[in-house]
This record gives sequence, C-alpha cells and structure tokens, in this order.
Amino acid sequence: MEELKQIKKDFENEIAEINDIHNLEALRVAYIGKKGKLTLLMPKIKEMPVEQRKEFGQTINSVKNLIETNLQELKEKLENEKILNEIANEQPIDITLPLNIKKGSLHPRTSLQKEIEDVFVSMGFSVEDGYEVETEYNNFDAVNVPKNHPARDMQDTFWLDNGQLLKTQTSAAQNRILRKYNGPLKAIFPGRCFRNEALDHSHENTFFQIEGMLVDKNVSVSNLIYFMKKMLSEVFKTDINIRLRPGFFPFVEPGFEMDATCTFCGGKGCSTCKNSGWLELCPCGMIHPNVLSLAGINPNEYSGFAFGLGFDRLVMLKTGLDDIRYLNSGNLKVLSQFGVKA
Ligand code: DAH
Repeated sequence: MEELKQIKKDFENEIAEINDIHNLEALRVAYIGKKGKLTLLMPKIKEMPVEQRKEFGQTINSVKNLIETNLQELKEKLENEKILNEIANEQPIDITLPLNIKKGSLHPRTSLQKEIEDVFVSMGFSVEDGYEVETEYNNFDAVNVPKNHPARDMQDTFWLDNGQLLKTQTSAAQNRILRKYNGPLKAIFPGRCFRNEALDHSHENTFFQIEGMLVDKNVSVSNLIYFMKKMLSEVFKTDINIRLRPGFFPFVEPGFEMDATCTFCGGKGCSTCKNSGWLELCPCGMIHPNVLSLAGINPNEYSGFAFGLGFDRLVMLKTGLDDIRYLNSGNLKVLSQFGVKA
C-alpha cells in the first residue's frame, strides 16, 4: 500500500511537469505500460493475505483510473493547444493578391476561323467538316480533274501506301457535301491541306483553306459577289470592294480570281498591294456542271458558286505577319500577340 501511495504521488508530480505529447506518452508507458510501475504491482495481489486483497485491489484500481483520466485529459489539452498554435502561426492568405498565372491565347488562325464561321453562320451557312486523308477520287476526279489532267501537276501531295492521299484542297469535300444535301445548300468547310511544296515565305507544305459552296435554283455570279463582299467587310471591319478577273480552275465555269481593296492602304496603293490598290484574295467561280453531275445533282435544275479562300494569306493580312511559316512554327512569342486571349 505504501508503494502504491508513492506511485500515485510520483505520478502526480511528474505529470505536472509535462507539456508535450511525446513526454506524455513516455509517462503512460512508465506507469501503465506493459512493464509500467503500476502494472508490475498488479500480480502482487496474489501474494497478499486474503483480508488485505480487497482493499489493495480497490486502491490499485482507483489509482489506475486516476492515472488514465489524468493522462487522457492532458492529452486532449495538449492536442488542442497544438492546433491553436498552428492556427496562430499560419501565414495569412491574401485572396486579393493578383495571381501570376500565364494564360494562353488562341492561335491567330483559330481566332479568325471562328470569326469567319460566325459571319457565314449568320448568313445561313452551315459549317461542314472535311477529311485530311482523302481518296484520289474526291480530291481530283470528283472535282473535274481526271487522271492525266495537267492541273494535277500543280498539286503534288503526300500519298499513302493504300493509294489515298493527304488532301491538297478543301475542294476535296465538295462531292461528299453535294451528295449530303442533294439539292439546295449553303456550306463552308474549313480545313487543313497539304502539298509537296518548296517552302518559302508564302508557301507551306501544310496550310489552311476555307471553302464555300452555295447551290440553289438560279444562283448567279452576283450572289457570289454579295457573300464575299459581306464576309470580307465583316472580317476587316470596313467596307471592302471586290473585283473579279478571269481565272481557270477545272471545277468552276466561269472561274475567277477575286481581288479585294487593299486592307492596308484602303486602295490608294502601298508596298503590300504593290501599288495596285488590290489584293488577290480568293479563287472562285460558278460550280462546273460536271461537278454537280458527278454528285448526282442535275445541272439543268441547279447552279451554284464555290470559293476556296487561301486562309493563311488572310491570317497574314489580318495580323501583318509577312511569313506563312510562322503560322505552323509554334513560336509563342510571335503567335500569342494575335490570337484572342483565352
Ligand atoms: N481548290 C483550289 C486550289 O486549292 C481553290 C479553289 C478555286 C476553290 C476555285 C474553289 C474555286 O472552290 O471555286 O487551288
């Protein structure tokens, strides 16, 4: 009993000194752990005379309870203090500070493509997709360029082992789209094109075009002029005049080269337009009857116009970039200046 009282006293003295969880755990082990002072006293009960056992048993139990409660209380107190301490020392976060996150921007081509699509959609056109890998038939034959036609020489491309090719022009989708609507239609189809080209500041092996078609009864060149004028004026945010010169493309008859008033000098003459006041912008024409027939459309009933906008050139005019190769370069210093910020 004396030993028990001493243990209780020692414990009370020691716990009063403790101020961290680590030491508290050591104290628990020292008293009620497997080889703790109190634990080792337990078996002694058997050695005692029977009449003392009851009192000893009760006392040892009450000391054990007291130790356990004290340990638990102090543990909770220390844990709370630790949390409060952490909160007090926390670095405050200033949510009003500007974030230094680098934002991307759209590629100037993507921005302009969206703009052009919006203009055409507002005029009732749909936006169609074309394939990048095409059949020889769709890319050439279906647009009135049969095998051995000299026009094929101007569009050398990359051929696949299976006889298919990387499309050289968005016109390759004409046949599929004509068949899809099988009658009146208004559609544009932007797309990536490929040619086996010698590269320079205005030629790339991978470039973009935006093709358009309108098919209906009694379509004429004046409809073509109206839509092109409207689109260019919206894109350049100013009234643009256009003129047509004769141009040959096997899939249109008559075919034209469309010029627009120079967007840099407004038609007065500058270095970009070589002092002519005009920029050559877009080949176009009235869809050749053969192209309609090859798609199952009766050319005596329907007519239409088509155009094939050299889209990269338009991007260059809009941004002022003087080398087409920037557009595929992935050069963010150059490109991020022009695209719409994300
Ligand atoms: N596909 C032609 C090319 O890449 C461009 C073109 C010319 C498209 C006249 C047309 C068109 O739709 O009517 O050279």
